[in-house]
Amino acid sequence: MNRIPLVAGNWKMNKTVPESLALAADIVAGLPRLDDVEVALLPPFTSLWPVSTSGIGDTGVVLGAQDLYWEVSGAYTGEISPAMLSGWCRYALIGHSERRRLFGETDDTVNRKVQAALAHDLRPMVAVGETLEENESGRTEEVLSRQVPAGLAGLDEAQGLQVVMAYEPVWAIGTGRTATPEHAEQSCALIRRLVAQALGPAVAESVRVLYGGSVTPANAAELMAQANVDGALVGGASLVAADFLAIVAAAAPPLA
Ligand code: PGA
Repeated sequence: MNRIPLVAGNWKMNKTVPESLALAADIVAGLPRLDDVEVALLPPFTSLWPVSTSGIGDTGVVLGAQDLYWEVSGAYTGEISPAMLSGWCRYALIGHSERRRLFGETDDTVNRKVQAALAHDLRPMVAVGETLEENESGRTEEVLSRQVPAGLAGLDEAQGLQVVMAYEPVWAIGTGRTATPEHAEQSCALIRRLVAQALGPAVAESVRVLYGGSVTPANAAELMAQANVDGALVGGASLVAADFLAIVAAAAPPLA
């Protein structure tokens, strides 16, 4: 199975609208042909629409939201509904560890959001990963074995084919402490096995499992060369066009 690698830039709570437009323009200007790698940008909500109408659609670059709420509309002050994103946004990142840790997301809310995204033609990018303490006490497998099936609960095979998984060890996010390629591979392979158990072998074979956590131009190629690592979810390095472009280049298979 030839899984097209996906490199997604999670801008988090960074960039004003003018800054976002400038960064998107710099990324687009430096992009290679996109036949063999998919590139997604996840600006903050205020910048999503401006970036989408700035001409990136013609380049093959797609957009993702950093989160969403599961209701379609109503009295939910401050929230963004899947219906507001549907039709022009391709992905929705769900369950990022910052959402889990700082904003009270649970496996249950992650699953509700995954279902809501799918109901509105948004492809969920489901983030999972262990904390430092869980890692050091040898509980990575236990944590992933809980988070993956909980996040994907209730999905059928067709829905599963829309999902992207992101393995993001919490201790590697924003710390400069990247997982070793071996650890990334082991965990991504485990996630694929868990997807197989939850949604069957066809979904497991085609689902892309990204690695995220201090991905840089220096370590991207080695991480993405692992058999079960199908791309990268990039935070800090996605805010610098040259760095993000170098990571995109590292994802493309070498020319024959
Ligand atoms: P980082 O963030 O690349 O800054 O470590 C990754 C992420 O949180 O998606």
